[in-house]
Amino acid sequence: MKIKHKILIVGITLLICGCTNMAPETIDESQGPSNCTPQFPGMNITYDNYVKNILSRNCIICHQGGNSPGLGNFTTYNGVKPHLDYFYVRVIQDRADMPQGHAPLPKSTRDSLNIWISNCSPEK
Ligand code: HEC
Repeated sequence: MKIKHKILIVGITLLICGCTNMAPETIDESQGPSNCTPQFPGMNITYDNYVKNILSRNCIICHQGGNSPGLGNFTTYNGVKPHLDYFYVRVIQDRADMPQGHAPLPKSTRDSLNIWISNCSPEK
């Protein structure tokens, strides 16, 4: 009886710890507007005041929907939003491959894009 109880307690403990450990991963994967916390609350970088301009100058030549070669339509906020998960690897990191066929954007621009996304990519 005693051993059975111990096994039960260990089992329950593992179960609880397992769930607790998994929780942050689950939150990361489903990062939407509702469960995103701005990481740089003092920085006022928005789609309207910064990002729109960067994308129109460097990206929409290929990313404007219709028959354009790039995925998505980056001419609007709602058009670019679904692709932000890929921005770190494709646009922001030092070995970024966008804009395609060109060197990565200047470091300061990439840092600003990173801050914008870390702040939950506000529109205004
Ligand atoms: C010369 C054309 C061209 C330019 C300019 C360009 N892209 Fe792209 N981009 C592409 C193509 C083609 C793809 C789809 C194929 C691929 O994933 O490599 C793509 C894919 C992407 C993806 C992956 C999208 C997804 O949902 O998988 C992102 C993010 C991206 N581009 C961002 C950008 C950004 C930001 C810029 C401007 C800084 C930019 N691109 C400029 C051609 C371009």
